[in-house]
Amino acid sequence: MGVPALIVAAGSGQRLGAGGPKALVDLAGRPMYAWSVDAFREATHVNRIFVAVPPGKGDLFDEPGIVKVEGGETRSHSVANGLAAITAAGEPEMVVVHDAARPLISPALIDAAIIGLDQDPELHALIAAAPMTDTVKRLGSDGVVVETLDRSELVSVQTPQVFRASTLKQAIASGDLAAATDDASLIEAAGGAVGVIESPSGNIKVTVPADLDLAALLLERSR
Ligand code: C5P
Repeated sequence: MGVPALIVAAGSGQRLGAGGPKALVDLAGRPMYAWSVDAFREATHVNRIFVAVPPGKGDLFDEPGIVKVEGGETRSHSVANGLAAITAAGEPEMVVVHDAARPLISPALIDAAIIGLDQDPELHALIAAAPMTDTVKRLGSDGVVVETLDRSELVSVQTPQVFRASTLKQAIASGDLAAATDDASLIEAAGGAVGVIESPSGNIKVTVPADLDLAALLLERSR
């Protein structure tokens, strides 16, 4: 299989407070997004790597072999731009989307998600997710707890997310891009079937400075 990948790296990184794009922040001696690029290079079933970059900052992304695409206003707009570039020369069967903010992604998880979707014709997408370890409560508009949700029915959603390319294209064309925090929610809203594949506990997302320290430690350990 030869599946194109899109790494979205066009976020501003305001919550990290690094004074520039999060994807370019130094992590164990390299820009954060480069660790994800490595994993996609190593994945057996990925054939091309597109990276959505912050507008005007493309020159700062210099990993060899990547195809750069200008990112958009929100994450979903960046995915839309990337998908348009991927499908410009013909529509692949599947596409895999990943956040540059998850630098500990493993090639094994990427391949497993691609194979999993390929082998399940009922599904339109297969997304990485972790079981909930915290107890989750829903709040009312007054900030008071309304109910405690059943943790056994909940997962915490991550990337990579693998899609049938035609389904993702349709969902993006008809969905509310500004409101979506991931692409699978656009598929769900359009009535598509989204499956989950359990991701290892190390696939953390870097959002605040403490996450960066943890990611550096985990990378050191895995070297
Ligand atoms: O902001 P957050 O960390 O949730 O963003 C998730 C991913 O989406 C990051 O890798 C970020 O670079 C990317 N993103 C993007 N374009 C935007 C906003 C976020 O590619 N406009």
